[in-house]
Amino acid sequence: MSSQDAEPLYGGRRPGRVTVRDIAAAKARGEKWPMLTAYDALTAGIFDEAGIPVLLVGDSAGNVVFGHDTTIPVTVDDLIPLTAAVVRGTKRAMVVADLPFGSYQASPAAALAAAVRFMKEAGAHAVKLEGGLRVAHHVEELVAAGVPVMGHLGLTPQSVYAFGGFRVQGRGEDGERLLHDAKALEAAGAFSVVLECVPTELAARVTQSLSIPTIGIGAGPECDAQVLVWQDMAGLTPHTAKFVKKYADVAGILGSAARAFADEVVGGQFPDADHSYR
Ligand code: KIV
Repeated sequence: MSSQDAEPLYGGRRPGRVTVRDIAAAKARGEKWPMLTAYDALTAGIFDEAGIPVLLVGDSAGNVVFGHDTTIPVTVDDLIPLTAAVVRGTKRAMVVADLPFGSYQASPAAALAAAVRFMKEAGAHAVKLEGGLRVAHHVEELVAAGVPVMGHLGLTPQSVYAFGGFRVQGRGEDGERLLHDAKALEAAGAFSVVLECVPTELAARVTQSLSIPTIGIGAGPECDAQVLVWQDMAGLTPHTAKFVKKYADVAGILGSAARAFADEVVGGQFPDADHSYR
């Protein structure tokens, strides 16, 4: 094992970006790692400094940045400036761009055209797309062109209307299909796969069956990595799913700061001499 392969993914100090090789080495070592979403330069910089090795510019931006109810309306043009900002704000993290609904489903060539835009115009290091067997050829096309691909199975939010709502996926016989899909993604060359809202036991089976890492979100503790939308994890989102754990109360902190600022403006205490020019 080379010294590069021994570098921990979370908090490693080796200069340069995290690569797909580092991620494969972590799976081989049985090392767990965290992933967060990011949509702007400042927040991404904080997560990068904290040692988060992979940042996803998710189409969840549709919900947490643009205020939609679903990810369906999000476009490539929406996500390119956010992805570029996250790349500019970071030094070490691998930045993965989500291919939004409608940008890749039509054909492998459409997937490649969207991925090329994210890599050339935003500097993304990898892309993520939703689906299993039905996008295997898309993944092959991307990988053949040198684009690292993260898969996404389970509750894939771009299919929310087909699922009839945001509900746990992969129960009963659907579990076998999901395992089959995961193997198809691995065979097509994906370097990792997100498992969203699937039963713990199924996520554990998939994780044991694959040589690429699984990244869980509502998929229990057996996945190789875990991802959360940062606004959920930091307590900014008002309503979250059962699987979300709140690690801070950013909504409370921002609300207090806004009220303190407003009170001082109204009361004439701000700006004082320390915050004015002579
Ligand atoms: O868009 C997103 O943020 C995602 C994660 C929840 C995995 O797909």
